[in-house]
Amino acid sequence: MEDRRIAIASDHAGMELKEDLKEFLRSIGYEPVDMGTNTSERVDYPDYGIPVAEKVSKGEIQRAILICGTGIGMSILANKFRGVRAALIYDIYTARMAKEHNDANIVVIGGRVVGKGLAREMVRTWLEASFQGGRHTKRLDKIRELENRMGEKV
Ligand code: RB5
Repeated sequence: MEDRRIAIASDHAGMELKEDLKEFLRSIGYEPVDMGTNTSERVDYPDYGIPVAEKVSKGEIQRAILICGTGIGMSILANKFRGVRAALIYDIYTARMAKEHNDANIVVIGGRVVGKGLAREMVRTWLEASFQGGRHTKRLDKIRELENRMGEKV
C-alpha cells in the first residue's frame, strides 16, 4: 500500500508556505509529517533539512518536501545523502519531470520565489506523476554507482 506520509520542513523563509502545503496535503489525502521550523525566528536551513534528508536516505519515509527562501540551500544539502534525489521545482513542467525522469523523492521549493497557488499545483503534479523508467533507469543507476564510489557519502 502506498505510504501517504510526506515529511515536510522549512526554515523561517519557507514556514508560511510549509503551513499552507500541510493543509493542502491533508485536503488531498496525504499525511504531512512536520519536521519544523515552527516559529518565525530566523534559523539555519540545514538544521531542518538534514533530518528530513536523512530520514529519506534511511528509508524511514519515502517522500519529502523542503522549503527555504530560494530552495537552493535545501537542494544542496539534501543531495549529499545517499539515495536522495532532491529536485528544485519551480513550475508545473519541472514538478512533473522531477518524477517522470528523475524519480525525485524530495522536492524543494523556494518560498520567496513561488506563490502558494502554484506551489500547491506543483506538489499535486509531483505526487500524481509516475517514474517513466526505461532510459531514465539507466541514468539513475549511474548516479547510484557514483554514490557507491563516494564511500563516505552519508
Ligand atoms: C534565508 O535568508 C535564506 O538564505 C534561505 O532561506 C535559503 O534561501 C538558502 O538557500
